[in-house]
Amino acid sequence: MEKAWWKESVVYQIYPRSFMDANGDGIGDLRGIISKLDYLKELGIDVIWLSPVYKSPNDDNGYDISDYQNIMDEFGTMDDFDELLQGAHDRGLKIVMDLVVNHSSDEHAWFAESRKSKDNPYRDYYIWKPGTDGKPPTNWGSVFGGSAWQFDEATGEYYLHLFSKKQPDLNWENEKLRQEVYKMMTWWLEKGIDGLRMDVINFISKDNNYPDGEIHGDNKYGDGSQYFMNGPRIHEFLQEMNKEVLSNYDVLTVGEMPGVNAEQGKLYTGTERNELNMVFQFEHVDVGNGPGGKWTPQPWKLTELKEILSKWQYGLADNGWNSLYWNNHDQPRAVSRFGNDKEHYEKSAKMLATCLHMMKGTPYIYQGEEIGMTNVAFESIDDYRDLEILNMYNEAVNEQGKDPNKVMQAIYERGRDNARTPVQWDDTENAGFTTGTPWIKVNPNYKEINAEKVLQDPNSIFHYYKKLIQIRKDNEIVVYGEFELIHEDSEDIFAYTRTLGDEKWLVICNFKSEVVRFELPELINYQSKELVINNYEDTPKEIDLFELKPYQGIVYKLT
Ligand code: NOJ
Repeated sequence: MEKAWWKESVVYQIYPRSFMDANGDGIGDLRGIISKLDYLKELGIDVIWLSPVYKSPNDDNGYDISDYQNIMDEFGTMDDFDELLQGAHDRGLKIVMDLVVNHSSDEHAWFAESRKSKDNPYRDYYIWKPGTDGKPPTNWGSVFGGSAWQFDEATGEYYLHLFSKKQPDLNWENEKLRQEVYKMMTWWLEKGIDGLRMDVINFISKDNNYPDGEIHGDNKYGDGSQYFMNGPRIHEFLQEMNKEVLSNYDVLTVGEMPGVNAEQGKLYTGTERNELNMVFQFEHVDVGNGPGGKWTPQPWKLTELKEILSKWQYGLADNGWNSLYWNNHDQPRAVSRFGNDKEHYEKSAKMLATCLHMMKGTPYIYQGEEIGMTNVAFESIDDYRDLEILNMYNEAVNEQGKDPNKVMQAIYERGRDNARTPVQWDDTENAGFTTGTPWIKVNPNYKEINAEKVLQDPNSIFHYYKKLIQIRKDNEIVVYGEFELIHEDSEDIFAYTRTLGDEKWLVICNFKSEVVRFELPELINYQSKELVINNYEDTPKEIDLFELKPYQGIVYKLT
């Protein structure tokens, strides 16, 4: 397998609005990030992925961009950005930016022009269609609720918005638009950024026939996803982007891709295909989705999770590359979702980190994960800020008359604001995030869970992550070793081996809050064993048959 710096790296995601506020307006900003660069260096990560920092009216917290080449007022200035980039580079850290080009903001100058008239030169930068019999062109629902089409008075046509109506979809069929995007990407890459995370990039090619989607259950709208996910020209567009822009730079590229499976993942990331380095797939974070998707959460099985993750591991074993993540700004907190944030809080946070970082791929840490931040449960819907949550609540409670308590429960489990409460830096007011009023409330557990505390404790979650990152740096097997799942039928244990040359590593993770027995498969032979990392103090004397403690995660090197 070809070696590459982005395979050997660990990425840390920053959601700037919630990371650190330097000017006391209650909103995280670039100078706040600058003030924490030493903290990130201490953790040992290699790359920072910045969620969008561009000009935006913030309908979707920066994922609605009104100017791709300027910085959002609340976050600072381009000078601040340049200082951040320089500060990161001085410390040997790289910066990956978010590229949001499936849609722009409706306040982007292109859209302001586009909506003016049918013959405006920017008309075809977006997707406009006449309605049929006074109804939208298709029955598609938008990801954030309601129809995916918005009627616009000025020209009497509808525009497509797969997300909010303030996020009109860009028309990638239009070559002029594509060239504008490539020019903008080149501008940032020339500035010296080190890569791009591409927002819902597998949505950019739509089926030009615009068929209606199937209506599932009691939904009001049709599911158009098969007509815009991994659409007809997606590979052509990405290959063109690669040829015109990406191939000129040695950068990290990761495409966010809902609805992508491992076979498709290989097409997007295969070396000879010249598209992207890796993708964010969604299959594993969707475990436990019920008939209403994530808003009807159900229990999930460890065998399902293992089947998904190992399918990706095997699928991209020889060609292509995996990204590894448990959470991000759209997902609940890892320890609350996949671990146990109560009795086994610390152990399960460390176990999950072990399980993820020892797989083959590039691991991503979401801000606060390294200090063990958890989900939040605000009593009132008024304390939530995410438009996806607010739209869903309104539709479910006010329009469909659903039980508000049940709806709140789903928000507690799967809502995006779980990830967006401010990073808990210390136990002072507002967790040290801001001297003002935070734009979203701080998780009330900040006195127990905060960065200052974990930095001081050598046995903390933070120091455990630091150790895992160092292990990756010191051992090629963690990056390039072959993955093999063992005990695939176990509902308790997630175990696998990694093999490189004569070396084999054994990774054993207990996902249960009980003691469980582990038996080494007969096919695994070894002369000697050496402990690599363990989230408990005492190490089992022998590994052929032993008991794993609740949420124990342990790694051995076998020779
Ligand atoms: C995916 C982003 O991660 C999410 O935060 C955003 O709301 C949508 N794409 C739309 O841009």
